[in-house]
Amino acid sequence: MGKNKAFDVLVVGDLNVDLIMNKINKMPQIGEEQRADEMDLVMGGSTAIFASNIAKLGSKTEFMCKLGDDSFGRFLLKEMEKQGVNTESIITDPELRTGATIIFFIEEDRMMVTYPGAMEHLSSNEISDDILGSARHIHTSAIFFQPKLKEGLADLFRRAKKLGLSTSMDTQWDPEENWDLGLEEILPHLDFFLPNEEEFIRLAGKPDLESALDSVAHFNTCFVIKRGAKGAMMFQNGEKKSIDSLPIPEIIDTIGAGDSFNAGFIHAYLNGKEMETCLNEGNRTAAVSTMAAGGVDGIISYEQVCETAKNLKT
Ligand SMILES: Nc1ncnc2c1ncn2[C@@H]1O[C@H](COP(=O)(O)OP(=O)(O)OP(=O)(O)O)[C@@H](O)[C@H]1O
Ligand SMILES: [Mg+2]
Repeated sequence: MGKNKAFDVLVVGDLNVDLIMNKINKMPQIGEEQRADEMDLVMGGSTAIFASNIAKLGSKTEFMCKLGDDSFGRFLLKEMEKQGVNTESIITDPELRTGATIIFFIEEDRMMVTYPGAMEHLSSNEISDDILGSARHIHTSAIFFQPKLKEGLADLFRRAKKLGLSTSMDTQWDPEENWDLGLEEILPHLDFFLPNEEEFIRLAGKPDLESALDSVAHFNTCFVIKRGAKGAMMFQNGEKKSIDSLPIPEIIDTIGAGDSFNAGFIHAYLNGKEMETCLNEGNRTAAVSTMAAGGVDGIISYEQVCETAKNLKT
């Protein structure tokens, strides 16, 4: 697989703004107004967090999505570039508006409203062979927020494999809980499937993890199932390997921990590491991500992740 390609990873998926309202004393009832003592506007989206973090680990990364021709869209392009991610393939569509999530934090809990906007409109046939051929690997996530991409996903991965790319996918939660991904059509073209445990069980339509794994054992795909504080499990060709999560002295939040895991794992894979090392590197990148607020700021570089994770060993 050509090391001479322009990019290590082509990341396709969700990129939107998160408007965070924090320190709200009391949630307003309909018709009321309340005060928030903190506010932030940041880059959001599961796939965007993956792209940003794998770029900081050292993979040459390009991002592909649709944005509106608006101030949120321009803000996101700048933020992506600041993280070292190439944005030249991103489509700006003046007919569409860039998506946004408003997040209300109340004590330990949160409430979110999302307007998906432009991200719903990217179709898999807009990802040309030229764009696919520019990278060694393709990754996507948040697929249930991207119905047009979902429709052509099996074919996109099939084309990618034909062009010599390796392929990976996370799904994130299905807000409509239909879980109608067409997994059987996708898995023959997918090298790494990286959902969390709950998502995987629902996608497989089985009552528990064991029976969900049994139902996909005939595929060659490497399944990497994230299990929150319980760590993660890797499953391929009937062989299982589990890893405990690292002990974190003080978790700030687990936003983007799953995407940071994916970034650490795929970065290791693209550097020719053994599968077990990829699992370890995913786990420790996720751990380091929980030690800072949000999904992006905790990861600075590969060296920083190694140094920080060293001190987490029991
Ligand atoms: N409490 C914790 N302590 C240590 N590590 C954790 C903890 N929670 C999560 N992690 C790490 O983060 C990884 C991913 O977590 P999780 O299973 O929550 O993924 P996810 O649901 O996909 O996350 P996301 O919310 O980013 O989508 C875990 O496999 C583990 O390595
Ligand atoms: Mg996840």
